[in-house]
Amino acid sequence: MSDKYRIIGPLYDLLAKVYSAGRIDKCKTAMHDHIKPDDKVIFAGVGHGIDAIAAAERGAEVTVVDISQTMLNHFAKRISGRYFLHPIRKVGSDIFKFEEYEQFDFVYANFFLNVFSRVMVMPLLEHLTKLAKKDGHVVIGDFAVPSGGPVARAVQSAYWYIADIFFSLLAKNALHPVYNYQEMLRGLGFSIEEVRYCRFLFANRYYSILAKKV
Ligand SMILES: C[S@@+](CC[C@H](N)C(=O)[O-])C[C@H]1O[C@@H](n2cnc3c(N)ncnc32)[C@H](O)[C@@H]1O
Repeated sequence: MSDKYRIIGPLYDLLAKVYSAGRIDKCKTAMHDHIKPDDKVIFAGVGHGIDAIAAAERGAEVTVVDISQTMLNHFAKRISGRYFLHPIRKVGSDIFKFEEYEQFDFVYANFFLNVFSRVMVMPLLEHLTKLAKKDGHVVIGDFAVPSGGPVARAVQSAYWYIADIFFSLLAKNALHPVYNYQEMLRGLGFSIEEVRYCRFLFANRYYSILAKKV
């Protein structure tokens, strides 16, 4: 299978930093204070993985999954020579083929679900929720749903589409409006425990959702 992140992958984190003035990084670790030592945590579509590394630094038993060898190589470089309480497990796979159900305390999907089309996103989220233990959590960091008046909503949509169009051209990401993950998670029987927003350019541009399997 071709690696869609072969060209843009090496620049991914730098672009995200510039585009969000560092807020995307903050958003990816916004819920990390819930992670305890020895918790089992999985990062789907890990990319360069600053969030996964931060979880390992908290003593969690971290698994990362990514379909792109380019992204996994970058991640491997980042952790090379580092020691954690639990060594990080790296899995090169399509997440749909990763079926370790009910094994994880936290299932992270940071800026991952937005890569997928409307048709694929629900089956994917459902698959991810199955990886969580009975009382486990799903954490989603992503672009916040446009809110407020018509101008504020239009600005947030435009802000999203700049990134979406760029990545659809360079990594074949799907084109679609901002997804409403809280609605999707409730539909799958999850309860939303907490939402933390990251502000940028006078509005809530990103958020992190903590949802519990009930
Ligand atoms: C937009 S990037 C986000 C990376 C990272 N989570 C972050 O927040 O920086 C999406 C990542 O998902 C990975 N990916 C795309 N489709 C995948 C799939 N079917 N299974 C596993 N990983 C996938 C890509 O290779 C890429 O690393």
